[in-house]
Amino acid sequence: MDEHHLLAPGPTPVPENARLAMAKRLIHHRSDEFREVFRRVRSGLQWIFQTDEDVITLTSSGTGAFEAAMTNFLSPGSTVVVVGGGKFGERWADVARRYDLDVVEMDVEWGEAADPAQLADILADREDVSMVTVTHSETSTGVLHPLEDLADVVQRESSALLAVDGITSVGVHDVPMDELGVDVLVGGSQKAFGAPPGLGFVAVSARAWRRQPDDHLGGYYFDLSRERRRQSQDQTAFTPGISQVLALDVTLDMMRDEGRRSVFERHRLNAEATRTAVDAVGLELFGARPSNAVTAVLAPDGIPAPQIVDRMNDTYGAVIAGGQKHMSSELLRLGHIGFFRRTDILTMVSSLELCLRDLGHSADAGTATAAAQRVYTNASHQDVPSEP
Ligand SMILES: Cc1ncc(COP(=O)(O)O)c(C=O)c1O
Repeated sequence: MDEHHLLAPGPTPVPENARLAMAKRLIHHRSDEFREVFRRVRSGLQWIFQTDEDVITLTSSGTGAFEAAMTNFLSPGSTVVVVGGGKFGERWADVARRYDLDVVEMDVEWGEAADPAQLADILADREDVSMVTVTHSETSTGVLHPLEDLADVVQRESSALLAVDGITSVGVHDVPMDELGVDVLVGGSQKAFGAPPGLGFVAVSARAWRRQPDDHLGGYYFDLSRERRRQSQDQTAFTPGISQVLALDVTLDMMRDEGRRSVFERHRLNAEATRTAVDAVGLELFGARPSNAVTAVLAPDGIPAPQIVDRMNDTYGAVIAGGQKHMSSELLRLGHIGFFRRTDILTMVSSLELCLRDLGHSADAGTATAAAQRVYTNASHQDVPSEP
């Protein structure tokens, strides 16, 4: 049997209805049928990004979308302040260096949450900052950086644009783009959207459009102005990932049916159940301010994380993620982003405790599973949030 459970922080499982939508005959992207689908998708994206602005869909992974978010609003030699603290935050500094931009990295220790006061100090010292980038949910460490406070600092201390990597926070946490004054917010299809990888989303504020420099670094394919023009007509500039768009149409509809607050609450509860379960078997949670997209946890002493990841895969068909870069031997990352049901979480924590016992970690059988179940049982007695 080659069945396996995707239990990593992306790509996440694609619901069956969405998979079936991709299995139908292909439609042409210049057809009325596609236009109709794309119109719905554009409006669904605005709903989940909580913005009245256009959300541009690119056929690219999230990295391409974030690169476009930077290059389209920066000129050669512009200064960018990059809030670090993990692999993805640091990636945006690498991208900026590729374009010979003047990069000011705000160092944040992996596992720590970015300190708004540190950002304020950096901005107070410089007048020439064109953009600040923040990775809201840092998937490599499981930390959710304090976006509201960071946005506040950017707006108070500078006139820089605020570009936010929301790749594992949009659709997981409440990220009201317009209300927070975020200028550019980026998402990816394979995360909370539960669609296959291959689409990146870039929401752009009116302020960012107004401030777009004539000599911006945006390339030919990632020309957001052209995409904006075409997408306002429910078209894309080039051939899009049609099948992924069809799947996304289905999953956005599922999110709308569920309601935004319920989607956030489901993520919160699954995250709480996962954290409680791993804590119950004696594992140490990693990182301050945990994101509800992923639980980062330290492997027990004496058992390297890659051994757990491999055994979870080989013996239990459970695909979890290990640590990245210098954390690769010690960190495990358990995903709960996307259309995870309670039973998926129970499968994950139950497989993990079996696997840990196989590898010599002592914990009574059923401890993690029972702990997660208790979180769900207690929640069943609470009020279901009302829908926006
Ligand atoms: C926070 C964050 N940013 C960026 C990326 C990169 O996205 P992609 O792999 O779609 O290019 C990821 C992927 O896991 C992510 O979690």
